[in-house]
Amino acid sequence: MRKNIVAGNWKMNMNLQEGLELAKELNEALKGKTVNCDVVIGTPFIHLATVAATVDTSRIGVAAQNCADKVSGAYTGEVSAAMVASTGAKYVILGHSERRAYYHETAETLKAKVTLALDNALTPIFCIGEVLEERESEKHFDVVKSQIEASLFDLPAEAFGKIVLAYEPVWAIGTGKTATAAQAQEMHAFIRSTVAQRYGQEVADNTSILYGGSANASNAKELFSNPDVDGGLIGGASLAVDKFMPIIEAF
Ligand code: PGA
Repeated sequence: MRKNIVAGNWKMNMNLQEGLELAKELNEALKGKTVNCDVVIGTPFIHLATVAATVDTSRIGVAAQNCADKVSGAYTGEVSAAMVASTGAKYVILGHSERRAYYHETAETLKAKVTLALDNALTPIFCIGEVLEERESEKHFDVVKSQIEASLFDLPAEAFGKIVLAYEPVWAIGTGKTATAAQAQEMHAFIRSTVAQRYGQEVADNTSILYGGSANASNAKELFSNPDVDGGLIGGASLAVDKFMPIIEAF
């Protein structure tokens, strides 16, 4: 169950044509190559169906970057988990710090999103992570623990077993300030022990925990060599194949 995963998060970049080109290039780059991780790309909603129909989805998993917290109905502008699943996407990134900060996503909203994602057979890539002041005041472990508890720990063990976690210290996202390999390992081990306390060691050992925040071709190998770091959620460096492929190949 525990897998190595390198997931790209395109955020709000690339129009449809550019995104399709990038996805095709990645598809070509992976052709005939053996890689030691699952590869995922998180595209804007409007790209999902086209990208999923174009790439070899047995090699590249397609992810949305969000989904609605409601099933369906009069929620103008929203995109449901069922709609995401109907495009051929298999994953959904949930709880990214940009969504928590700029779109006021709460633990409760995220809980609903996680449930709807799972109901629609999507794998949530659930993001957690502290802001700089929280780390400087040594609250980072408490913050991360409560983010996990508040949105995920009501799930039964079987459902929790389908979640991928992504630890993304907010101070490292898009800043070029990567967490050190030791900081990542320390937090990932803490997250795994938090999961073990709630669901037992076996579930914890089977949980993939990704690192995100200025991960790139030069630091991926060191980050991924940690026993509790099972891959990365990659923003900036996922927007060009020559930057993204070396991260995939870091495993
Ligand atoms: P970054 O973004 O790699 O550009 O820091 C990571 C993320 O926000 O998922």
